[in-house]
Amino acid sequence: MSQSDVMPLSAASIRSNACTPEVFEGDKLCDLTRIFEPQTQMVIAPFDDESWSPEAMWGRMAREGRLAVMTLDGKPNREDLDDAFRVCSALGRLLSNLSEVFATLVGAQEVGIRWMWTCRPSCPRFHEDKVAIRAIYNHCGPGTEWVPSQYVDREYLGHKSGGLDDEVSGLLLDSSQIREVASGTLSVFKGKVWEDNPGLPIVHRSPPRSGTFRFVATLDLLD
Ligand SMILES: [Fe+2]
Repeated sequence: MSQSDVMPLSAASIRSNACTPEVFEGDKLCDLTRIFEPQTQMVIAPFDDESWSPEAMWGRMAREGRLAVMTLDGKPNREDLDDAFRVCSALGRLLSNLSEVFATLVGAQEVGIRWMWTCRPSCPRFHEDKVAIRAIYNHCGPGTEWVPSQYVDREYLGHKSGGLDDEVSGLLLDSSQIREVASGTLSVFKGKVWEDNPGLPIVHRSPPRSGTFRFVATLDLLD
């Protein structure tokens, strides 16, 4: 994909975040602890890591998905190798910081982390997570989309949608209520396996707009 294929960030139907009874948007990282309040299903907090910028650091690799580490005459391409080392080093720091925050929050000894730099949706349908708790870091590009529960008819989740798009299946009672998590934030979601949850998990999906690169990392419990 070339740079000219990258679409601008815009979606008229996407509303900015606002606190709802089940979602809390904080202004500091320690606000994530509000996920343990019984009525809270999702908390969003800023997680700025200015040392990590895949767009700037990956340069050509981010756009073309490759680096030329060897030249045609078999010699190392120093410039590209330096780029690769810089990316790996910064990525390692970022993943370590994210893991530490999530592990500390949930009291876990081990957490799993997946990340991607992609312009394709990974979970394009609205769904509930089948885990106890999960964190999603949206660094740049379109963010995770979610809908306040009062605008969702869960009868149409999954195969009950009849294969229809979420926008027409009956799942969304008001499609103008789709919200988008902002870039530079860490979101923590309760899932279906959270014990003694008096509410229901937030229905969410990865942004369906293809053509715009985003960097996202997902953290899960391993123990
Ligand atoms: Fe999910």
